[in-house]
Amino acid sequence: MAKKERINFSKIGAIAAATGSAVGLGNIWRFPYLLGESGGGAFLLVYILCVVFLGLPVMISEFSIGRMAQANAAGSFRTLAPKSKWWLVGLMGVISAFLILGFYVVVSGWTLEYIVQALSNKFANASTAQLNQVFTDFSTNTYRPVGWMLLFTALTCFIIIAGVKNGIEKSTKLMMPLLFLIIIILGIRSITLPTGTEGLKFLFKADFGKINSEVILSAMGQAFFSLSLGMGCLITYGSYINKDNNLSSTALQVTIFDTLVAVLASIAIFPAVFSFGINPAQGPELVFITLPNIFSRLHGGYIWAVMFFVLLALASLTSTISLLEVIVAFLTEELHISRAKAAIVSSLGIALLGILSSFSLGIWKDFSLFGYGFFALFDSITSKILMPVGGIFISLFVGWRIDKQKILLELSSNGKYKIPFLNIFLLITRYLAPLAILLVLLNQLGLTKWLGF
Ligand code: PHE
Repeated sequence: MAKKERINFSKIGAIAAATGSAVGLGNIWRFPYLLGESGGGAFLLVYILCVVFLGLPVMISEFSIGRMAQANAAGSFRTLAPKSKWWLVGLMGVISAFLILGFYVVVSGWTLEYIVQALSNKFANASTAQLNQVFTDFSTNTYRPVGWMLLFTALTCFIIIAGVKNGIEKSTKLMMPLLFLIIIILGIRSITLPTGTEGLKFLFKADFGKINSEVILSAMGQAFFSLSLGMGCLITYGSYINKDNNLSSTALQVTIFDTLVAVLASIAIFPAVFSFGINPAQGPELVFITLPNIFSRLHGGYIWAVMFFVLLALASLTSTISLLEVIVAFLTEELHISRAKAAIVSSLGIALLGILSSFSLGIWKDFSLFGYGFFALFDSITSKILMPVGGIFISLFVGWRIDKQKILLELSSNGKYKIPFLNIFLLITRYLAPLAILLVLLNQLGLTKWLGF
């Protein structure tokens, strides 16, 4: 019997879906506050270096693994390296997807609450102290954030049940252009504020004195998180990319878009922060407290606020569907259960983790596991351990385990495209990426200090 052909994204569909996965809370919520905390331009520079030299090659590796194998994250490793333990790397990715969703859907739920608050003009004339209180009261509340989280999870589940073509491709092709439009409008509005250039200076002036191992660490972790790397998401999406598609140019475009949105989000945020004399190093509350504060003082603030939180929700949704697809593709292909069943069962599991995360900020604030509440635990385990470890193994797999000729055929779509950078790519996947990630990982775990470096 001929093997059933795998569903394929169209060319634009592949870019929309993968960019949708990459662009998310990481770009609009996390990147600006890390940048604010780590001194602006210097962080931006290190971040871009990490994206180019580590992120892009790992992304190309993930796409190649998925498209070569035509299977889910774990199935891909099993197909390409049968009778070995490599499939465990894929399984780790599926587990990572669960844990990331476990806290991600909570913050995604917050974006829905803030759309409603923006729509009902709640920010108008509110003082900073009041906005602070509103955020704390809401995020530590027992029921409300859980309600929004459940709604967001259900929405994600619904799109995934609709399928790869009709759910993922269709929805991201619609949402991504809208997202770009909104962020560009917000950026223009922000720069044209009085003293808006102050914020741009903060963003683009690199103070090299600020670059230390801490900054490098957080820049690399952020690059992995933001590009959705190290956990099989882009292996899964890679398996839906058409065989004729130029993988490296798709990866390059996704990387450029993702970085552009992070920079645009910062351009939208920092000039406004400076114009109103607010401390740029605000931490995770930056978008939920600082921005409403700005909107409250901005002419036409109502409409900007609504647009901003719609943007945040859209960006989150295109990421949560990519995370859920990792799990659903795994369950349907490995355990042979239907797509709808797989989506519903995994969403229930995610909702459970989401409840734990949300409670850990409120009624269960004092409960901790390994010194972390659930929210921080899911966040830290995934971005500080599982994703970097996944990145190391994915690089090693492409660099050492797969035949060089096979990689060349995959990247060139059987000779259709020229791949002049093959040797540099292999140099990075064999040595540079695994070593660099390992160093950062050890540093993060405090082991380099312990070893006496
Ligand atoms: N890249 C997404 C973001 O920036 C998060 C994500 C991580 C999505 C891993 C999928 C896989 O928000």
